[in-house]
Amino acid sequence: MSPARRAQYLQAIGIDRWIPRIALGEAASPAPEPSAPAGESCARPGPDALTQTAPEARWQALRAEILQCKKCPLHEGRTQGVVGVGNREADWMVIGEAPGAEEDRRGEPFVGRAGQLLDAMLRSIGLSRDSNVYIANILKSRPPGNRDPRPEEVAACLPYLMRQIELVRPKLLLAVGRIAAQNLLGTDAPLARLRGRVHHFGERNTPLVVTYHPAYLLRSPADKRVAWEDLKFARSVMAGRPTDGERS
Ligand code: URA
Repeated sequence: MSPARRAQYLQAIGIDRWIPRIALGEAASPAPEPSAPAGESCARPGPDALTQTAPEARWQALRAEILQCKKCPLHEGRTQGVVGVGNREADWMVIGEAPGAEEDRRGEPFVGRAGQLLDAMLRSIGLSRDSNVYIANILKSRPPGNRDPRPEEVAACLPYLMRQIELVRPKLLLAVGRIAAQNLLGTDAPLARLRGRVHHFGERNTPLVVTYHPAYLLRSPADKRVAWEDLKFARSVMAGRPTDGERS
């Protein structure tokens, strides 16, 4: 097969560079791997360039699409698309609603006041965005004035999140807030009815647990106790020993 044809096939399945093993052993060193964008981490490339390059290329393509996306009018008012942050191989994936002003400015999810509370919530169960969680939102662009996402915006943006979930393949999804929970579960049920039990998401039946959005908890600190129960519940689900999802 000609090198050009092979490159075409490999590109079609998400591999943008293929180095025959023999060439790795004898030729000059290959071009360096593209580095992960700030805020995201992934495993160091192993010896098998073929298998390591595929996810990296898919992440890069996804990132480029999100940054250039004009599928809904939100692109007109945003500073930048906000892709995600954390460990791309994490067992936990946290899904929020949409970037706020600070996230729009910095290009990273949950970096404002709500983000600080989210970090504290995660730390309370031994997790951190730097090591064992990947964080993304339903929408990648900031809605003006932090209004709720519109159905057509969610419809345009959700495929990006689906691709992120497929790439991370988390063992558990934690939906924070009504917007994330309702859109992932395809329901209008109020959050109080969705929390406290295990749902399942997508073809992989990934367990999904719902809790309050940290921005809501900043406004209603009395519910932090309930959110804490949700986090402990999620941890028990991850451990394979779900406790009663205490409804408080
Ligand atoms: N709220 C969200 O839902 N996501 C963010 O990234 C920031 C605030």
